Amino acid sequence: MGTPGDRGTSGRVRTALARLRTLLSPHPRLVDWSLFALLLVVLLTGVLGFLSGRPDEAWVFATHGVAGISLVAFLYFKLRRVRGRLAELTVTRALSVLMVLATVGALATGVWWVFGGTLDLGPWGLLNLHVGLGLLVVPLLAYHLTRRFRPLSSTDFEGRRTALQYTALVGAGALAWRLQGSANRLLDTAGATRRFTGSRETGSGDGNAFPVTAWVADDPDPVSVSDWTLSVRGLVGSPADLAYAAVSPAHEDRALAVRTDRASFAVHEDRALLDCTSGWYSEHDWQGLRVGDLLDAVGVHEDAAWVQFRSVTGYRWSLPLAEARDATLATHVDGDRLAHGHGFPLRLVAPGRRGFQWVKWVEEVRVTRRRDRSEWLAVFVSGVEE
Ligand code: HEM
Repeated sequence: MGTPGDRGTSGRVRTALARLRTLLSPHPRLVDWSLFALLLVVLLTGVLGFLSGRPDEAWVFATHGVAGISLVAFLYFKLRRVRGRLAELTVTRALSVLMVLATVGALATGVWWVFGGTLDLGPWGLLNLHVGLGLLVVPLLAYHLTRRFRPLSSTDFEGRRTALQYTALVGAGALAWRLQGSANRLLDTAGATRRFTGSRETGSGDGNAFPVTAWVADDPDPVSVSDWTLSVRGLVGSPADLAYAAVSPAHEDRALAVRTDRASFAVHEDRALLDCTSGWYSEHDWQGLRVGDLLDAVGVHEDAAWVQFRSVTGYRWSLPLAEARDATLATHVDGDRLAHGHGFPLRLVAPGRRGFQWVKWVEEVRVTRRRDRSEWLAVFVSGVEE
């Protein structure tokens, strides 16, 4: 039992906290709309992050982190307001509870990941769980809006007070996000050395010894080089079909039959970092041929703007022509012939792009005027029928 003095102190703390809550709590409808806006930002930057891998795109992840952490305060205000209504559970309420659980789960797994956490879920890991929980929020949020939508009105804003509340709440989120970096370094967690994309280093400089991952269902049988050619098609002067020996820099590979009259290409080497959206990165010296050399050899039409790389599985991705010229079609990694899982005989190396855009098992390079929109679908369905 505490002394009357203790009770006096805790009472004063409780009163001060209650006053702070009243001071910081925006109008209920503003809380709802802020939650909606923050969720939208978090979801959009989460998805955009999958397409961002260059240092100048680090803002995408910073915005994701700040908006994610800022959600905590608004969630607190919201749950305090509605908790009494949860006793009588309806379908709409049950789905709202599920949405809160998915959001809190995404928050917790995001922070856990950032502090170096791991989780073994078979082919998936902690970051995949985070993304899965985040995406689960989308349909639940859409349903919630159809049932609970209330427009904002000017009376929900209280001028300077509202501005100060938002400065304090989002400022606290930004500060917590910033301090997370320092805390990580101080505690020396596995998250301290992650890239700005959240990915952690593995197997750099060690040939094929980095994880094999496939985007969705791509998992073809090993490719036999005697049945394989690299076709160059589309807006080119002279379409070509090149055998492995014509594109491989390794001496022993040149001994294989050449099914083209085209000369071999100069050996090109590029040091590039492969950053996978499942949360790891690996830096290597990739050897192969420069796409620019290949395009110069076949001649590109003036109105060409995109270069598409197609896999034996139907998977495909395009790069703008100028970027594609500097990309590499690799046959080797750190001097070792590419393993099947890493895309033998030929894999696209596209520096600054995320791993799923580094097409494996490339069998066709197609030069086009417009981007092929169907590739957005192909990345999800290629390999599914196998
Ligand atoms: C309700 C939805 C989501 C919430 C509340 C959420 C929240 C968070 C939070 C709080 C972090 C930790 C940030 C930090 O402390 O620096 C984080 C990290 C991360 N999130 Fe999400 N997230 C959501 C959805 C998504 C989605 C849909 C994706 C991808 C499609 C995604 C990708 C990531 C990645 C890659 C990281 C690691 C970033 C890093 O290490 O700095 N998130 N998320």
